[in-house]
Order: sequence, then C-alpha cells, then structure tokens
Amino acid sequence: MRRPLLALVAAAAVLTAVPALAQEVNIYNSRHYSSDRQLWDLFTRQTGIKVNVIDGEFDALVTRLKSEGARSPADVMIAVDAGRLAAAAGDGIFQPMQVPEVTATIPAHLRDPNDLWFGFSVRARVFIVPKTLAAADTPTSYESLADPRFRGQVLMRSGTNIYSLGLTSSVIAARGETAAETWARGVVANFARPPRGGDTDQIRAVAAGEGKIAVSNTYYFGHLGRSSRPEDKALVDSLRVVFPNQDDRGTHVNVSGVGITRTAPNLANARKLVAFFASPEAQRYLADVNMEYPANPNVAAHPFLRELGGFKADQLNAAAFASTNATARRVNERAGWN
Ligand SMILES: [Fe+2]
Repeated sequence: MRRPLLALVAAAAVLTAVPALAQEVNIYNSRHYSSDRQLWDLFTRQTGIKVNVIDGEFDALVTRLKSEGARSPADVMIAVDAGRLAAAAGDGIFQPMQVPEVTATIPAHLRDPNDLWFGFSVRARVFIVPKTLAAADTPTSYESLADPRFRGQVLMRSGTNIYSLGLTSSVIAARGETAAETWARGVVANFARPPRGGDTDQIRAVAAGEGKIAVSNTYYFGHLGRSSRPEDKALVDSLRVVFPNQDDRGTHVNVSGVGITRTAPNLANARKLVAFFASPEAQRYLADVNMEYPANPNVAAHPFLRELGGFKADQLNAAAFASTNATARRVNERAGWN
C-alpha cells in the first residue's frame, strides 16, 4: 500500500509545480467513427494531452480552416484519400511534420515527399468476383478490365468519385494520359450498367448476378465480412477478392491520412499525436476500425484481411497519383465514365 501512496504524493507534487497550461490538441476530422473516442482517450492517458475533435466533411473543414486563418484552432487534419490530402497540401494548409517516428515506421510511398502528410492506413482497390468464376475468365489487371472479353461484366462507381480518380491517376502514371483514356473507354464499354451507388452496391450487384467483376476498396468487403447479418455472410462466402496487377506494378492502394496545419497553435502536441498515429497500438486501431491495412508493415492486418492473402502493392507515391487527379477527371469525362 505504501508505494502507490508515495507515487501519488510525488505525482501531486509535480502537478502543483507545473503551471496549469492547458495541454490539448485539436483535430479537424473528416473520417468519423464513433469508436474513435477510445483512441483519443488512449492518447490522453499516455500523454496527458486532451483531444478536441471537430467532425465535418473535408471540403467544409478546409473552407473553415482557411477562413479562420492564423487564428484557427486546428492542429491536425484527418482525411480519407490521398487526393484530398494532396489538395490540402497544395492549398498551403500543412507544414512539414518533422516526426521521426513517422519516417522510421511508415513506408516512403505512403508519405508525402515534402513531409506534409502521411497515410496511417491503407485500402487496396481490388476486384470482387464470384468464387465460381474460372481463373481463365477472371481479369488479372486493371488494364484487362478494358478487354472486350469482359463486355457487360464490369461494375464500378462513378468516374467522378475520388476513388475512381485515384485509380485512373495510377493508370496515367503507369501508361500515360493517352493510353489511360483508351483504357477508360474500354472499361466503360464493358460496364454491366451505368455507374450508380458506392463500392458496396457494386459488390452486391455481383452477388445478385448483374455483372461478374466489381471494383471496390478492400474495406467495403471487410465491412460485409464482419457483418453479423446472415445474408452478408452468405454474400461474402459466395465471392472472392482478386488483387490486380500482381505480375507487374502491383495493386493500386490509397490511404487515410493526417497532416499538421501550418498554423497549429499546439505544434508540439500535434507532433506527439502524429507520432502516436504511427505507433503499433494506434496503427492496430486506426486500421481495424475501418478494416483497412495498417500503414506500418510491422503491424498485422485484421484476421479477415489476412485471410484474403498477401499482395504486392503499387509503390507509386500517394502524392504522385493524387497530383494527377484533375487530369484523371478529364480523362474519365472524355471516356464517358460518368
Ligand atoms: Fe469509402
């Protein structure tokens, strides 16, 4: 009994010796899960720093931050998709993070080359096909989605969606703009139906027999995989995941990520929070909450994702494909991918 009491007395002495500075950090967050509170609480327990979160749509938060200017309370900004992070970086919203824990643990292709943001979790853009689809009838690359033998089989969301822009950007990086447009035309010609709905809708459409190949981010399949609804379980059991381009550049991956704002009033705390995001504990949480892959390669993915098997990811820097999103938008538009 004596020892904890002594420790308490010592802690109280330290607390009274330190001036009562408000230790806090403010997050502008466009990726919201109610369970994130657990993660912020863990950070507060580890560091004593209080976490304040303002949730909102990414564009609205950027507008708000800009209008607040130098007086903005925002220290860090969280977003899904490298395209959004890169756009914010281009707007001069971020400052170099200078957090050694990030550079030491997060692979270079998931970090902005100017250190303005990094991806803390990874989603792969894959094909979901019926388990019964023969290997010979299964596309193995994004390029092959444009092959006439897949006429009427491809299900994809709108070409204006940010995930579609990221994918087209990765094809532009690999093949050039002209070839990417030819590719997009071929893919559109193979659509089972005009794009509608999100990735989950494409997966459900394959299960319903509307087409044979859904293009989806891995976590949407993961959400169905951990669903307790028997009909979702049956759906997942009837389908399998194909990781495209395993024989060449690898599967296109995108990120959820974070950057430190240029005007961060609590810069030191922001750096601590960002370092925390790269830690194994937070990596485990940040990835699992949305069924994404941890960015830190030393942290294992959720068992459901591990069961899908390992895969080779395209090492193209997330900032590089994000930077051609505007070109990708024009390419998709010209190709009639609406
Ligand atoms: Fe999503």
